[in-house]
Amino acid sequence: MPGLWTEDRILAPAARALVERFGFTTLRHAPRTGFYLCLGTTGLELREAGEQTPGPVRVDFASGVLAHRLRFGGGRGQPLARAVGMKSGHTPVIWDATAGLGRDALVLASLGSQVTLCERSAVLAALIQDGLQRAALDADIGGWIEQRMQLIFGDAARLLGNLTAEQRPDVVYMDPMYPPGKTAVLVKKDMRALQRLVGADSDSSALLESALGAATRRVVVKRPRHAEWIGGKKPSAAVESKKTRYDIYVTL
Ligand SMILES: C[S@@+](CC[C@H](N)C(=O)[O-])C[C@H]1O[C@@H](n2cnc3c(N)ncnc32)[C@H](O)[C@@H]1O
Repeated sequence: MPGLWTEDRILAPAARALVERFGFTTLRHAPRTGFYLCLGTTGLELREAGEQTPGPVRVDFASGVLAHRLRFGGGRGQPLARAVGMKSGHTPVIWDATAGLGRDALVLASLGSQVTLCERSAVLAALIQDGLQRAALDADIGGWIEQRMQLIFGDAARLLGNLTAEQRPDVVYMDPMYPPGKTAVLVKKDMRALQRLVGADSDSSALLESALGAATRRVVVKRPRHAEWIGGKKPSAAVESKKTRYDIYVTL
């Protein structure tokens, strides 16, 4: 697992909190090769040392790109929203079982859903936590982000199996990492770095089974448009967009 380097001594207490929650080792110096986490005064980022490596990865919910997606992404008419069953009068409670960089979760929360973001990679969970803390201070989006988005660090297949009847969400959403080289969807820079960090999610069939046992209405699985169904399991329906397919498994 990548170590944590802190740019400024003033951040030592925040670094200690990250080490305690996520188990990172602390680095005395920024390394010369490989991935490492850097905690600076503008937040936490994943960096890759070395020549010709991609730029840092961070979770910035108030960034221009995400703000643009929230404004012009299509609201409740966009494929993701239709797939989870958002229509006027119904706003599902959602578990995002594969939170990643929290982008899909942000869209769903912006449309009114309570979203639990579950992430098992310590690095990604720490990046999301940092992103949520900074976004909570944002004058435009901080209010609803704090109210509607909650992070859980751990394995969703296990955690979904332990939910009580009252804790079961309407919808479980999954977007497992797809193996490299199979699709152009992975060409996105941030996702490429993450793919190398966390690897392909080869256990997504087991996650789908847990999700089916936990969701009271439906499970939605995001796939590259022409990919096979997870575990060969035929969905009840699908919503397609240019590059992506959302397989819907109704559990009602
Ligand atoms: C492709 S990324 C998700 C991207 C995300 N939808 C977004 O909008 O940023 C997949 C993520 O799911 C996480 N993941 C896969 N299986 C998981 C599981 N069983 N429990 C928790 N996290 C899981 C991986 O660690 C990875 O960060």
